[in-house]
Amino acid sequence: MFSNRVMGIELSGIRKIFDMAQGEVINLGLGEPDFQPPPEALDAIREAVERGYNKYGPSKGFPELREAIAEKFSKYADITAENVLITVGATEGMLATMLSLIDPGDEVLYPDPGFVLYKPHTIIAGGKPVAYPILQENDFMPTQEDLQERITKKTKAIILNYPNNPTGGIIDEEHIKMVVDIAEDNDLIIISDEVYFNIIYEGAPRTFLGRYDKLIFVNSFSKEFAMTGWRLGYLIAPKEYVEQIGKIHYYSVACPQSPIEYAALTAIRKSKYYSDMMVEKFRRRRDLIYDLLRKMDGVKPNFPRGAFYIFPRIELNADPVEIVKEVVKRGVLCTPGNAFGKIGTQHIRFSYAASEEDIRRGMEIFDSVLEKFR
Ligand SMILES: Cc1ncc(COP(=O)(O)O)c(C=O)c1O
Repeated sequence: MFSNRVMGIELSGIRKIFDMAQGEVINLGLGEPDFQPPPEALDAIREAVERGYNKYGPSKGFPELREAIAEKFSKYADITAENVLITVGATEGMLATMLSLIDPGDEVLYPDPGFVLYKPHTIIAGGKPVAYPILQENDFMPTQEDLQERITKKTKAIILNYPNNPTGGIIDEEHIKMVVDIAEDNDLIIISDEVYFNIIYEGAPRTFLGRYDKLIFVNSFSKEFAMTGWRLGYLIAPKEYVEQIGKIHYYSVACPQSPIEYAALTAIRKSKYYSDMMVEKFRRRRDLIYDLLRKMDGVKPNFPRGAFYIFPRIELNADPVEIVKEVVKRGVLCTPGNAFGKIGTQHIRFSYAASEEDIRRGMEIFDSVLEKFR
C-alpha cells in the first residue's frame, strides 16, 4: 500500500527515548535555543497580521527579504537577491535541493555522525547515501582519504555541516580547501548546511560561501533568531539552481509564510545583536558543561567551538543507549550518539541550550548514573 520511498525511511529513534521521560525533566536533548524570538520580531509579526500580510506571497520569498539576505552575505560572495530562495526552514530547503539534483542511483556523501535529515532526504530523492566518518580525534572534520576513497563515478554531491550538529565541531581553512579541491576534481556539488553560521565561540565564521561555484549554502532563521517554530530558512546558490530548486519548492509549499517573512526581515534589520547575546550565554554554558564532563571518569568530552552541543565519547565498557535510558528515567533528556549514525555510537549528545542550573543538576545525575556502569 505504501511507496517504496516511504518504506525506505524510518522516523528517528530519538522519540522513543524521550517518551520514557516522566514528570518534570531537565532538557539537554533540545535542538533549539532556549530563548524566544527577538522582541522586534514579535512586534513585527503582530504588525504583519494586522496590516494584512495574511495572503500568498511571491513563491521564492519577499524580494526585500531576499535582498537583505544577499546584502548580509555579500562580504563572502558576489550575490544578489536572485541567488536567494526563501524556504520553509532549512529542512524544506535541503529536501527541495535533493529532489532537484539527485537522480536514482546518484551517490551523496554525508557525515557520520550527522544531522538526521541527510540520509532520508537522499533516499527520498532516489539517491544512495554514502556516509563518511568525522571523528573526535580529527576534531570532527573529514580526512582527505576518507572522502576520496568513497567517491565513485556516481558521486554527485557532498553534504557538509559546520558548525556541526551533533558534535559542536567547526571546520578550519585547510579542510575547507581540501573539500573544495576534491569537489572540483570530481565535479561534485557541495551542499553546505550552515544553520549554526552565527553560533561560534572564537573567531569569525568559516564558510563555504564564496569558495566554490557549485555550492548550495543552506541557512535558517531558526537558530540565529530563536524562531524554530516559525519555520523559515533560505538557500544561497547560483541563479539557475535557484530557478530549478524553486520549482520543487513551489510545488511543495507554494510560498513561504508571509507574516513570518515580514518578521524575519525586521529581525535581519534590527536584531543583529540577538545572536551575539545568545552566543555569550551559550559560551558560559559550554565552558560549564565541558568542565563538568571533563572531571567524570570514563567520559571524554570534545571542546565545542560552535552550535550548542557537546558530544563526549563514553570510554566505559557500556552501551551509551543503555546509559541514556537510565539518565532519561532519572529525568534528564539527552540523545544517544547512534541517533546520528554508526560512527557516533560510542557518544552521547547533550545540548547546552539550557540554564546553568539545569546543566549542573543534569550533569550530577548523569555522573551518578555512570557510577552503575563503571
Ligand atoms: C544541522 C541542522 N540542519 C538543519 C536543521 C533544520 O533547521 P530548520 O529549523 O531551519 O528546518 C537543524 C535543526 O536542528 C540542524 O541542526
